[in-house]
Amino acid sequence: MYEQTTVRRTVCGDGENLLVCGTVQRLPKEILALRGQVQFVYLDPPFMTGETFRRKRVYGEKGWRRGSPSLSLEGYADRFADEREYLRFLRRLVSTSRELLQEEGVFCLHLDWRMSAQGRVLCDRLFGKERFLNEIIWSYESGGRSKKCFSRKHDTILMYARSAKYRFDLTRVPLPRGEHRKNHMARGIDETGRSYSSIVSGGREYRYYDDDPVYPGDVWTDIGFLQQQDPERTGYPTQKPEKLIERLMKPVVQPGDRVADLCCGSGTTLAAAEKLGCLYAGLDACPEAIAVCQARLKAENLTVIAPTAEDSVPLNAGYDEEAGRLRIGGLELVGPPYPENAKSLDLVEAWEIGRAEKDVFRTERRYQRSFQYPALIDSLSLGRENLPDLLVTDAAGIRRVYRWKENQKENPD
Ligand SMILES: C[S@@+](CC[C@H](N)C(=O)[O-])C[C@H]1O[C@@H](n2cnc3c(N)ncnc32)[C@H](O)[C@@H]1O
Repeated sequence: MYEQTTVRRTVCGDGENLLVCGTVQRLPKEILALRGQVQFVYLDPPFMTGETFRRKRVYGEKGWRRGSPSLSLEGYADRFADEREYLRFLRRLVSTSRELLQEEGVFCLHLDWRMSAQGRVLCDRLFGKERFLNEIIWSYESGGRSKKCFSRKHDTILMYARSAKYRFDLTRVPLPRGEHRKNHMARGIDETGRSYSSIVSGGREYRYYDDDPVYPGDVWTDIGFLQQQDPERTGYPTQKPEKLIERLMKPVVQPGDRVADLCCGSGTTLAAAEKLGCLYAGLDACPEAIAVCQARLKAENLTVIAPTAEDSVPLNAGYDEEAGRLRIGGLELVGPPYPENAKSLDLVEAWEIGRAEKDVFRTERRYQRSFQYPALIDSLSLGRENLPDLLVTDAAGIRRVYRWKENQKENPD
């Protein structure tokens, strides 16, 4: 029979990439150890909207296969007593980010109309005004429209260099040449067959070849918010598009560089870093965010560190002597947000076998649902002697650890 046990932290994997559930106020030592080693930090903190974000999260084989049913969960709370409290939080985030950066590193702070002015003053103080690189305007069309003032349709991304030696290669983000540039210009084809638009000014001809790349300025209108049906969408509230973060990151990083995000949410920065061949470190206070990231990122070369719940939820798991198998029946979760009629295995998103030692559970093997593999395996062929401890992550992303208790009659369903 398996019984829940109190284990403070769980550690899955021993890769160079890091995903940690914790707060910037009590910075986990694994993140602190990266001081001076990070090339790019992106921060997309709560914007001080006063909202508690909710999200829907699919569960069970049917949910992962078809996108429903789902649980309605409280996401993260973007609530602060007042501006002072918010700025204390932001100061901690920005100063920690600065400490993480190496000399050539670059920092981005993503805010909106509520706090971007205060953010600018704070970054000027912490990085120095001379380290300011850009105030990028990310303009989009989605969301409601105001009649009382012009609609607020942009976010602001402040970009700062750690030192004068920062790395930045704009040629890594070429854009297709826009049609607008050609409208008032003459068209031509040169002797090598290349087409161009041209304008004569001061007696001199300026040519703009169609196949010459152009580079982004600081107002970005060509990247939209993620749509409801976007395959990139995880359902995590306020998820940003990978394309946006990739454009910020690409001029600054090379494969093998380390990228960090201290409010990583659904893991957009980490997914973009992974695609660019960078190492990454993600921190988030919300356990569900860590579970979302874990489903989104590759498991190789990754270490995931997270706390466990202190509640008490029975697990149906036991040893089937005849088949020689360890069987997982599921979790007995009752009450909101878990639906009454859900089968208990449906409420399991992932399970791991491993050892709980000195307050830490270390994973040896992990099984998890995903859109690609919606069914969860529910048994393992194992010898009776030395049954492993179990870590079970439920559909809301909460982790619990269970220890095998000998000398008890077990019920393998
Ligand atoms: C705007 S969301 C980030 C969304 C993310 N960029 C994405 O694309 O999914 C802000 C995140 O900050 C996290 N957060 C809030 N307070 C925090 C704290 N004190 N320390 C670490 N993370 C925190 C929230 O849990 C939330 O996931």
